[in-house]
Amino acid sequence: MSNFKIKSVEEYNAAYQLSVEQPEAFWDHIASHYSWRKKWGKTLEWNFQEPNVKWFIDGKLNITENCLDRHIEQRGNKIALIWEPNDAKEKAVRYTYREVLKEVNKMANILRKLGVQKGDRVCIYLPMIPELTFSVLACARIGAIHSVVFAGFSANAVADRINDSGCKFVITSDGLNRGPKQIPVKAVVDEALVHCTTVEKILVVDRLGWPVNMEVGRDFWYHEELKNVNDQCEAVEMDSEDPLFILYTSGSTGKPKGVVHSCGGYMVYAGYSFSNVFQYNESDVYWCTADIGWITGHSYIVYGPLLMGATTLMFEGVPSYPDAGRFWQVIDKHSVNIFYTAPTAIRSLMAAGVDHVLAYSLHSLKALGSVGEPINEEAWHWYHTHVGKSKCPVVDTWWQTETGGIMISALAGISELKPAHAGLPLPGIQPILVDGDGKEITGNNVEGYLCIKFPWPSMIRTTYGDHERCRINYFATYPNLYFTGDGARRESNGMFRIIGRVDDVINVSGHRFGTAEIENAINQNKKVIESAVVGYPHDIKGQGIYAYVILNDYEENNNNQTRDEIIESVVEYIGRIAKPDKIQFVTGLPKTRSGKIMRRILRKVAEGEINSLGDTSTLLDPLVVEEIVTNRLTTSD
Ligand code: PRX
Repeated sequence: MSNFKIKSVEEYNAAYQLSVEQPEAFWDHIASHYSWRKKWGKTLEWNFQEPNVKWFIDGKLNITENCLDRHIEQRGNKIALIWEPNDAKEKAVRYTYREVLKEVNKMANILRKLGVQKGDRVCIYLPMIPELTFSVLACARIGAIHSVVFAGFSANAVADRINDSGCKFVITSDGLNRGPKQIPVKAVVDEALVHCTTVEKILVVDRLGWPVNMEVGRDFWYHEELKNVNDQCEAVEMDSEDPLFILYTSGSTGKPKGVVHSCGGYMVYAGYSFSNVFQYNESDVYWCTADIGWITGHSYIVYGPLLMGATTLMFEGVPSYPDAGRFWQVIDKHSVNIFYTAPTAIRSLMAAGVDHVLAYSLHSLKALGSVGEPINEEAWHWYHTHVGKSKCPVVDTWWQTETGGIMISALAGISELKPAHAGLPLPGIQPILVDGDGKEITGNNVEGYLCIKFPWPSMIRTTYGDHERCRINYFATYPNLYFTGDGARRESNGMFRIIGRVDDVINVSGHRFGTAEIENAINQNKKVIESAVVGYPHDIKGQGIYAYVILNDYEENNNNQTRDEIIESVVEYIGRIAKPDKIQFVTGLPKTRSGKIMRRILRKVAEGEINSLGDTSTLLDPLVVEEIVTNRLTTSD
């Protein structure tokens, strides 16, 4: 099945060259490895002005037939999914491909029975339990569009996402386990639904055995519904360009965007990139520690691995529970061969001390991956030396929610590795660097804004309900280019090193937040007049959140109680994950005469670079900068 797997540098070079010179022939060949109900006609139609991108036009398929049905003959009894619970003492559960197919069919039949139809949007708000994977695939099976919302988001954030895409159905659970804590989940949905009008029914998975509020006629227990369905469900035929899912991500404006991915192109690229980057072999056990609430989980826990007939591990818990050796214990327990995690996790485990790693053998490991933010050299070396025992390649994979799959990365065991460098683009991906005017910067040892100049199958098609927003965000900054929002360097050997976001997006522990989004949440507090949020380097999280806040009564409210209340606002409006690390009360913000906040200055202060603030003479009130600098919060605050 995967004879599109590249096996040497020469094969990579040849594939890359073909993909640039004859992209359509290249992708035709890759796509032919999947099972299509009807073969596509034209391979590609595109322009980046509208934008309008279509791949494998008129092709018909169902992605779940590719993830499950087509494997049954050869891999029916192969383990598809290993589920490792939060509590190390609870039994892990293994599902074969045949069993996953049955579970997905049952879930799909329940959804159908409860009125979900092709094209309906289904919000999935679940913790990392097997039913999350089944729900995602069940939606895909019947052509419903899933919108998975990370279970750490607050009721307000859930409501916003449900309303934006007009979800008719929600799948959730009574509660969730997170390390030593048990946290309510259904109650959050109940709270969210006070602000939603489109949701008709809710399916509730019993994870904790908690009694929860169940509204008759609206709320249904999954385990009860299971009794009334069988395990056969014909997959719905989808057009290649039908939407497969929506996933919300933050941009530089206050409102998260619903990134829409299509069935055909996403499938082709998710499987292709998974197989090549990780060099998956038939008997490997693969573990990606992301949450399915983020794109990494979509593409590299669920779709990519299952498309390639892999054994994928899903973990309910956290790296620090019961202690900082949990990841390594799980690797030994399940003989994990390929391990994919985030720099923030590596840094926090590094801080916990190497003894936790040394307590385990980790001999099964063959390849390691990193994703979500730039990995610093120290963390890369620690990961390579102590986890990979200096024998496993570490692939630093650069990509985005919008790209659907890994774009720039080494191929494990094949490409040259350089710490903290994502490396070369995958075949089919044509990254370029441009200057502020959109002029291409050629040659090596150069730095610029990272853009992609040619379409690839899994690229964003639109932002749900607002195509213009998609155009403005990604295609209007530089004509005829997809703009990533990242800055990058191209080194002497053509390898890319990602520098980080150049827009008003902060990357906290590998999760994206718009500064405006956090400011909106802070401003909900009645004591706040205005706020400005910037990122600053944080040892563990990559970036921390630094908030400058103007209070309505500085003398009275300048205290820790107000700080706690502001944090509560953020927890309430977004979720715990977006909590500011530092809050500085200020009497003014550095603004230009036209009223624009000079974030550059605030960033420098947050970074502690107070001697290079640049020209402040054009500010409306240069004195506020002095005050901000004097009262700045340092690392120890
Ligand atoms: O800034 C880049 C950073 O994460 C952003 C995308 O975030 P998101 O859509 O949430 O997807 C994260 C998982 C794919 C990018 O614009 N980023 C992601 N991977 C890397 C990275 N920065 C540096 N190196 C990476 N490997």
